[in-house]
Order: sequence, then C-alpha cells, then structure tokens
Amino acid sequence: MQTVQDAAALRAVIRGWRSQGQTVGFVPTMGNLHAGHHSLIKLARDRADRVVASVFVNPTQFGPNEDFARYPRTLLQDQVGLAEQDCDLLFAPEVATMYPFGAAGSVSIHVPQLTETLEGAHRPGHFDGVATVVCKLFNLVQPDLAVFGQKDFQQLKVIERMVRDLSLPVKIMAAPTLRAEDGLALSSRNQYLSAEQRALASQIYATLQQVRDLIAKGHARTVAEQAATSKLLRAGFEPDYVAIRRAEDLSEPVEGEREGLVALIAARLGSTRLIDNLLFD
Ligand code: PAF
Repeated sequence: MQTVQDAAALRAVIRGWRSQGQTVGFVPTMGNLHAGHHSLIKLARDRADRVVASVFVNPTQFGPNEDFARYPRTLLQDQVGLAEQDCDLLFAPEVATMYPFGAAGSVSIHVPQLTETLEGAHRPGHFDGVATVVCKLFNLVQPDLAVFGQKDFQQLKVIERMVRDLSLPVKIMAAPTLRAEDGLALSSRNQYLSAEQRALASQIYATLQQVRDLIAKGHARTVAEQAATSKLLRAGFEPDYVAIRRAEDLSEPVEGEREGLVALIAARLGSTRLIDNLLFD
C-alpha cells in the first residue's frame, strides 16, 4: 500500500487507475483505526476496484473544549492495518493541504436543519467541520463510492444530505456498527475509559435495546426516553440525550408512530463522551 501526503500525488495515482477504467471506493477516517474501520475498508473493497483511505484528524470538527490535542495519532499502526485489509492507497494530508487558507479562512459547508439537533445541538459547529472536510476530501479523491459507519448515524445522514443537495457524484454506503462482545460499539474513544468505566459502558447498548423493547410494547416515546435517561443516570453516566427519531431525517415522530425509527444516545462517563444508536427495524 502506498501512502501519499499531497494532493498532486494523490490525483496522479487515481488518474492512473481511472485511465484503466477502474472504480474507486473511499473510506475517510481520523486514524487510530480499529476493526470497525477495517470493516468499512472491506465493504469498499467488495464494491470497488481500488480502495483509498484517508487519515486526517480534522481540526474544524472539534470544539474548543474537545479532545483534538489528545486524539490518538497512530499513523504507523494504521498503515499496517490498512495494508492488511488490502487498501490500495492512504492519503494522510497535513492541515495546510486541507486548509490552504487556514481553518478560519476556509469555505465552510453548513447543512441546515439536520445539524441543529442531537449532536449538532451539543457540539456547535461540529457538523460544519465534518461536512466541509468530507466535501474537500471528495473533491480530492473523486471516488465512485464512499463508506461511512452507522455508528455515527447523524453524521451519515448529514453526508447523505450534503451529497444529494450539492449533486456530488458519489454513492454513499452505510456500514453496520461493529460491537464488542458485551455490546459496546467499537470507537477510538473507548480507549480513554478506565477499566471500571469500560465495564459500565456496555449499558449504553443495553439501554438502546430497552428503549426499542418499550416502544415495541406500545409505550409512549417520552416514557421510553425518560426510563432510559434514568437508567443511565443511575448507572453513573451523564446523558446528553436519549432520543427516538425518524431514521430518515432525524425528525421527531408523532405519538404512536412505530415504523422507521432509530434510538440515539450520547452520554459521558467521566471525561469520555460516548455515542451509539439502534435502528428499530
Ligand atoms: O467519522 C470520522 O472519522 C470523521 O468525522 C470523518 C468522517 C473522517 C471526517 O473527519
């Protein structure tokens, strides 16, 4: 697997593949790759002739009090894992390549409505940073398809909306969340957890399942959300939200609506913020 840092080198490799009529699948990441990321690479591998991954810890999607500085940077380890997954090319740009006018001077993409709720409400500006960097990466790589994990469900919806609204010529594919044996969704942030917190963290998935079961039994949405919030508080979490939404656009379902729903949770354990979701269908 080849690693390139600058845009010209990236484009040259991809131009060579294109001239042979090959299709390109793309997996954008912030590195510190684990089995969840590898499953995204595998999906791209199955659907395209060539696979490009990017590793870029994007400064514009972190808030001032978030973990940008301490976000784990493990490029050598990531390269080994990507090569094992048969990835063809790694794009690992510097900040100046992605933001030639600096982060503050950059064009910014704002996806309205979808970004004003849930994660967007708790992390102002986060999705502007995500949409902007993903749009830039799409312009650089120009893939036929790109794979995103369902673990970041709202992010997936924001990217789908951006692609549709800006008529970007890329197919977005969703990859199912990979979980540890106890149900905890795999995430780079899990490594911040102490042993005690790690044991508790599986409660998030258990709570999502409980929410789904309460709705299936006919309980009101607010009852299920409140029961789940209390359960998390009792277990020692600080929940930011427990929400049942329409999976299509994250809008609020009307009472009694049962089809096409998703439950989403964001909760802190100490200084670590975990998110997860569960589609009901
Ligand atoms: O999900 C992530 O790792 C990031 O938000 C992404 C999509 C690579 C953009 O920086």
